[in-house]
Amino acid sequence: TRIFIPLDSFAVACGADEIADEFLLAITKADLDVTIVRNGSHGLAWLEPLVEVETPEGRIAYGPIEPGDVAGLLKAGFLEGGDHPKRIGDVQEHPFLANQTRLTFKRCGIIDPLSLDDYRAHGGFDGLKRALAMTPQEIVGEVTQSGLRGRGGAGFPTGVKWKTVLEAEADRKYIVVNADEGDSGTFADRMIMEGDPFCLIEGMIIAGLATKATKGFVYTRSEYPIAIRVVEEAIRLAYAAGIIGPSVMGTGPAFDIEMRVGAGAYVCGEETALLESLEGKRGQVRAKPPLPAHKGFMDRPTVINNIISITSVPVILAEGAEQYKNFGTGRSRGTIPIQIAGNVKFGGLYETAFGLTLGEIVDGIGGGTASGRAVRAVQVGGPLGAYFPRELFDTPFDYEAFAARDGLIGHAGLVVFDESVDMLKQARFAFEFCAIESCGKCTPCRIGAVRGLESVEKIIAGDRPAENIALVEDLCNTMKFGSLCALGGFTPYPVMSAITHFPEDFHGHHPAPLREAAE
Ligand code: NAI
Ligand code: SF4
Repeated sequence: TRIFIPLDSFAVACGADEIADEFLLAITKADLDVTIVRNGSHGLAWLEPLVEVETPEGRIAYGPIEPGDVAGLLKAGFLEGGDHPKRIGDVQEHPFLANQTRLTFKRCGIIDPLSLDDYRAHGGFDGLKRALAMTPQEIVGEVTQSGLRGRGGAGFPTGVKWKTVLEAEADRKYIVVNADEGDSGTFADRMIMEGDPFCLIEGMIIAGLATKATKGFVYTRSEYPIAIRVVEEAIRLAYAAGIIGPSVMGTGPAFDIEMRVGAGAYVCGEETALLESLEGKRGQVRAKPPLPAHKGFMDRPTVINNIISITSVPVILAEGAEQYKNFGTGRSRGTIPIQIAGNVKFGGLYETAFGLTLGEIVDGIGGGTASGRAVRAVQVGGPLGAYFPRELFDTPFDYEAFAARDGLIGHAGLVVFDESVDMLKQARFAFEFCAIESCGKCTPCRIGAVRGLESVEKIIAGDRPAENIALVEDLCNTMKFGSLCALGGFTPYPVMSAITHFPEDFHGHHPAPLREAAE
């Protein structure tokens, strides 16, 4: 019998390691023929640690399990899928999972992340096998056809980026995967690294074949120790199996992969600062042009893709561009792993075709707030994303629709706030975040963030609010148009959306009892 206990960071934070130890002890004591598999997470965060058992009727899930529950579970016949207050049944039939369209995350939570056999048994390397029989131009054409756009947030067409690198002449080219996930409320990059690392490796190899790059780097942050361990082990296994190295799968050209770990500066998620960090320098933004596609790592043509863009490629190659393109709306094609977080009842990862409205995601899928109070605001796209009020809950989840409402979907993270939130304090937080994380290279961001913070503090103190609000608006305009990168350039989004949609908080009219409740 196989039992599954997630190694996912979220599950581990909620006691999954202790639960695994308890199971191991009980199994050893009773001399049972049971194997413990440490799998990734299915993404139903409120049910973690979610433990599953393989029975003749399929996999039966139980959750959320706490350390101390194990003896009771075994007594209730867990190994046969027996009845228990925490029994969920087949997790794939849970509405949260059953209603998703899982393409990129189709194996996450299901397979043993470090078993090549399991990976192959679930469609792994099908995309790579097809790519190995294609020319680079054909692979690039397929990715372009699929409509895949950069999942880091900017939404640039992945195929066009690859074409630029393929056509660039150089002695060496590189693939750099941006897994420096720094946005608040996001965890898709971490989940795929912990739950399906061979998918990352497969995507990187395909990118290498498509652009004639021979070396790939995975760049992530030291805050993700489990993801680092899993990906490093997967790279080692891929070398040992001859999947990467001097010849891809024994038939293709050479391809090497190395993992690099940054210290966790937010700006190192910006592609040029990431390159500086990768080259061993301080993470500071470079001016563009030249684009990394022309002169990137070590001045060589470099594909920099977010990890979710790269891990979406294997399924595109395996199933064909048309199949992927059929999902979505407008110019936003395919699926997007939405990460629902903050004050929400059912948080987690929800992969779906573009086009659901914000209200459907927050009220429907997320089930409203965990506190039970009304939802007041949702920040979409990380700390530099706009706050959306309920009046904009009809906005469809797609790149253009969000941009048209002065927002961005970014890396598709949602942070939900209830009515106790003080939007003036959230505006203060945006400037404070920018002041701390600014790389200091350009003046609008380096100085603007600090002046913005001071001005919002004056508004909080009741010092000439009208005058200071006007000053903040003026400053936001300068930062938006004068900053060198998105850190300074996007800080105005949370600030201006707070002023525009929640003006009462800036004029001292936020209901006081609720403000106290929040504190
Ligand atoms: P950008 O619009 O300047 O570039 C997008 C990408 O396309 C870059 O990789 C760029 O090098 C590439 N590119 C542009 N023209 C090209 C061409 N002709 N050929 C080949 N490649 C080309 O956006 P940027 O500054 O890279 O990213 C800003 C975005 O990052 C924002 O939209 C924001 O949503 C997102 N963001 C994501 C965060 C995260 O944690 N994932 C955090 C903060 C912001
Ligand atoms: Fe650096 Fe901020 Fe300028 Fe970006 S906007 S280059 S983070 S100072």
